[in-house]
Amino acid sequence: MRDAPLLPGHRDAHQKLLIVDFGSQVTQLIARRLREIDVYCEIHPFNAVDEAFLDDFAPRAVILSGGPASVPDAGSPRPPMKVFDLGVPVLGICYGQQVMMQMLGGEVVRTPGSAEFGRAWIEPTEERLELMNGWFQGHREQVWMSHGDHVSRLAPGFRPFATSQGAPFAVTADPERRFFAVQFHPEVHHTPGGATFLANFCALAGFTGDWTMGAYREQAVRAIRDQVGDGRVICALSGGVDSSVAAVLLHEAVGDQLTCVFVDHGLLRKDEAGEVVGMFRDHMNLPVVHADESEMFLTALEGVSDPERKRKIIGGLFIEVFEKHAHQIGGAEFLAQGTLYPDVIESVSFSGGPSVTIKSHHNVGGLPEKMGMTLVEPLRELFKDEVRALGRELGLPDRFIGRHPFPGPGLAIRCPGEITREKLDILREADAIFIDQIRRHGLYDEIWQAFVAILPVRTVGVMGDGRTYDFACALRAVTSVDGMTADYYPFDHDFLGETATRIINNVRGINRVTYDITSKPPGTIEWE
Ligand code: XMP
Repeated sequence: MRDAPLLPGHRDAHQKLLIVDFGSQVTQLIARRLREIDVYCEIHPFNAVDEAFLDDFAPRAVILSGGPASVPDAGSPRPPMKVFDLGVPVLGICYGQQVMMQMLGGEVVRTPGSAEFGRAWIEPTEERLELMNGWFQGHREQVWMSHGDHVSRLAPGFRPFATSQGAPFAVTADPERRFFAVQFHPEVHHTPGGATFLANFCALAGFTGDWTMGAYREQAVRAIRDQVGDGRVICALSGGVDSSVAAVLLHEAVGDQLTCVFVDHGLLRKDEAGEVVGMFRDHMNLPVVHADESEMFLTALEGVSDPERKRKIIGGLFIEVFEKHAHQIGGAEFLAQGTLYPDVIESVSFSGGPSVTIKSHHNVGGLPEKMGMTLVEPLRELFKDEVRALGRELGLPDRFIGRHPFPGPGLAIRCPGEITREKLDILREADAIFIDQIRRHGLYDEIWQAFVAILPVRTVGVMGDGRTYDFACALRAVTSVDGMTADYYPFDHDFLGETATRIINNVRGINRVTYDITSKPPGTIEWE
């Protein structure tokens, strides 16, 4: 999987920067900062970067990332020496800086008490470095440090250009060979001048910023045509941003060789099937099969309360249904998926030696192997915000592009306990009101995800002169950057009161509304 080209032939069309990953928590941010300035880069784990790889990849510049290992330790990770013989600029960050210095003839030591974590200030030495253009408007610059070891002797050719209290060699360089080494992390927001620093590095390496969505669209279309030829492509369209953008891009590339299957499992939100099918089939003219299989899914889920069983049943049936509809339209050689770059990047694991963990994409997991189809993944190179930019470039309306994520198992995991049609109907109505409230108050785009969960309890209430005995529900709204961690959204009390009143007055079957204020961790975003 690792060496599969992102899009065959595609990456050669750009000036490329290679990020060698030593396992830092923030390596992905280096790529983010570079993509923001239209520089194409790829992250590869150190143990996958050998001489042959370097020849093949032919980077215009190399960045060595930070990482948790310690250079003085025997067996600590190294890039191949060839990185320094390519004749291209190299930037070492934190661990990358130390490993570079050690390999080029300097020395790294672990001195207890000299560790620096968090905010630090660096001051320039007398000689100016081009990479620090735009810095030191005041006499010092804030940076973010996270290191235990430090460089004690510079490699031949290196000179210091900035110092901090804990790191006399905060910025060093061998400007003649275009080797740069920083002890801090320029890629994080807590280094306010970091983006400028990285931009200066790219400019020095001759990057012209040729990675734009317009250019990507053209090249991706060409690459898809090359891969698919006159074969048929099938795509599971969920209405989420990723599958939607992938489908529209594929349609632009191969037209009616593409068929999209929208599987309606009966666990969708209010009006969702109509909106998605209407949008893609009627408005964008994509060939979409609307597979209404809700009876089958809901029947299979009857009496099932266990969250994992629910997921397994839904996942299994999804594959069955998809296969059935693929068969009905005469089959296809290619299966399109909206896999994104963060799903593809391998993270380096140091716990069990140089093992490599691949984060896999779960949405239609198991399908390609089972159906003997080849994958087409036209978004494999993109981050989420780039997918949104591409969607806009392809003419998808903003309302679609900015949609909150919605999980594959749908409302099933927002209905703890047994799923019934009655509960799903109640949930759909309450959810629609909550989302409408959020839109009316102009909060939709500030929130990562918002929904209602219907609780498996009935509680007593009083409405008019009568006693009620109805379901309670929980509102859930979180902020997040990637869904990995999240915090609850701090609605004001008026908003919550107004929303609770609207739900109770308008949704028969709910007489109590609560607000979930759990962060993730320890909670998860979904209730199951
Ligand atoms: P949790 O609940 O794990 O969710 O905090 C994190 C993000 O992932 C979404 N999610 C899923 N998406 N299939 C999906 O496509 C799933 O099975 C699934 N489970 C959770 C969830 O909505 C949130 O955005």
